Parts: sequence; structure tokens; C-alpha cells
Amino acid sequence: MNMRTIEWKNNKVRIINQSKLPLKLEFLELGNLGQLWKAIKSLQVRGAPALGAAAALGVYLGIKDSKADSFKEFNFHLKRVIRYLGTCRPTARNLFWGMERVLKVVSTAQDKPVSYLKKLILQEAKRIIEEDCVACRKIGDFGEKLLKNGSSVLTICNAGALATIDYGTALGVIYRAEEKGKKIKVFASETRPLLQGARLTCWELDNRRVDVTLICDNTAAKLIADKKIDLIITGADRISANGDAANKIGTFNLAILAKYHKIPFYIAAPISTFDKKISSGRFIDIEMRPADEVRTILGKKFIALANAKVLNPAFDLTAASLISAIITERGIIRPVNKKNIRKILEK
Ligand code: MRU
Repeated sequence: MNMRTIEWKNNKVRIINQSKLPLKLEFLELGNLGQLWKAIKSLQVRGAPALGAAAALGVYLGIKDSKADSFKEFNFHLKRVIRYLGTCRPTARNLFWGMERVLKVVSTAQDKPVSYLKKLILQEAKRIIEEDCVACRKIGDFGEKLLKNGSSVLTICNAGALATIDYGTALGVIYRAEEKGKKIKVFASETRPLLQGARLTCWELDNRRVDVTLICDNTAAKLIADKKIDLIITGADRISANGDAANKIGTFNLAILAKYHKIPFYIAAPISTFDKKISSGRFIDIEMRPADEVRTILGKKFIALANAKVLNPAFDLTAASLISAIITERGIIRPVNKKNIRKILEK
């Protein structure tokens, strides 16, 4: 895929509309903060690293027309925008990290005029985008060593180019292995209810000519028991200081299966996904999504009673003890524990 999931173009945020894939490749141009908020909420742009970039660009959209003429007034406006954007999705650490990055550059330039501060914010958002491209490739470099020619990999949700700027974390590892000449066989779990695995992962793997097989989420146990899977790699939305990881609902099931069947369970994630302020995963806010996402197929056709009682957490939590290693752009964390995480974060 030679295009970016999210970029700054013609004074607007241009995104691939992921809610339309794989049936249609559509780009959306978001010109104001409200549009960007809705795009994140409705998963038109999604995946933790992509949300980091979206949030930083969103802050710029929110302040670019600010009439503030003092730092105090501008800062007040900025913080209001940040609070608002922070209400769209709670779990992905990167969304908040992206906003903290822009807040930090502004705080170091308090004596500068507002027009300059605005430029700084856009510059920082663009830097986040470029850094993601580099980080994902480094994750790929470290991670590909865990794959052999012919390895069979199970993944869930989409932790690929569509969840980042242009390469991916979990899928980045696979792309790098393929670039190094290894043939990898991927099984993509469809990822109910919004089918990121079926719609997005299969689409982008197929675009890059990677051998991919779509499975129902409930097929994973049989496949692993039949020895068809060598290892599992997923992304993460937030990783606490002790290595517990929140990721797409169903990830925890896979980690338990991996442990039971003694195959490695890896997480691939950039440093921006770590939340060192959270000591354990139980403090991670797990997003609850609307009932109709479960009652319907992609909001189009009811497959349950319209008033069926529903529980729809978007993410679950995998304890550090179930994770064989975390692949980051600074190296591989193994075993996954507080000490090893601190070492990588301080690198
Ligand atoms: O609800 P989504 O589609 O935003 O969930 C995304 C995931 O769970 C991804 O696996 C995670 O963000 C890692 S993306 C590199």
C-alpha cells in the first residue's frame, strides 16, 4: 500500500475512510475538529498509532482559527480542545500521547506569539506522523527475527498500515519478514463485531500479496490445536507499567489459547502505547461501544432482536504473564515485566 492512512493535505486532515473498506477505497477530508471527533468515534480512522496522529492533527484543527492574542488565552483554548478530543475514545494511549506531545511543545514556547504556537503544533503533528513510519519499520526489524520462512501467524483486529501511518506494528513484523524473503502464512481472525480483521487486515495483506486466510473468531482454538499456528502476534491499545496490555476484544482469548498450547504470544507496539503512569492493566479504561454494533452487521442488517440486551466492550486485557514478548522500536521486551519495560522506556 503506497498511501497514508492519515495525513495533512490541502489544509485538511485527509484519512482513508476505514468504515468503507474493503468494498470501497474512499478518502475523507476533515476540515474541523467536530468532523475529526466523529471520524474517530465512528472508526473511520482507528488503531492506536493512527489515533496518536489524528489527535495531534485534531488539536491543530481545533486551534488554527483561534483569535487568542495572549499565551494565557491560547492555552485555555488549547486545553479545551484537548479535553474535548479526549472524550472520543478512552482506551488507546496514543490518542492522549499525541495531544500531550503538542501540549509539551507549546509549553516550551510560552513567550512566542500565538501564530508561532499554531505553527509549532502543526509541525509536531507532522513529526509524529514521520516518527510513526520509522518506528513501525524498526518494530518490523526486531520482530521479523521471531519468524521463520514458512511461519504460520495468527492475528486479530488490524494492527497494520491502516492502524498506523503506512506500515503497521503486528503486520509490520510480517511485512518485514516477507521483505527479507520469508514466506509467511497469516490467519486473520474476523474480529466481531466490527470485523476489522475481515475487512481491513485481509484487505491490506492481500494488497501486499501476503498469503492470508480469514477465520471466524471462534475457529482459533481448533486451528491452534490442529498445530496450524506457530505463533500469535497482535497490536496493543495501551500497555501498563507492568506489561498488561489492552487490545481488541478477543485478544485475551488468544493469549490463553497460546499458553495452553505452548505457542508464543507476542505483542508489537510502539513506545507511545505504553502508559507508565498506570501500574497495572486493571486501571485501563475499557471503552464500551453501542449495542447496535452487536445486534446488526455493520449497522445495516439486524441479526438479533432490536431490543436484545447487549454487552459490547471494545477491548480486553491480557496479563503480562501471558505475553511471551513485546516488540517495540527500541527492542524486544522479554520477559515482560516492570523492570524490563522501564529499561526500554528509559533507553
Ligand atoms: O477499535 P479499534 O479498531 O481502534 O481497535 C484497534 C486495535 O485493537 C488494534 O489492535 C490496536 O489499536 C493496535 S493497532 C497497531
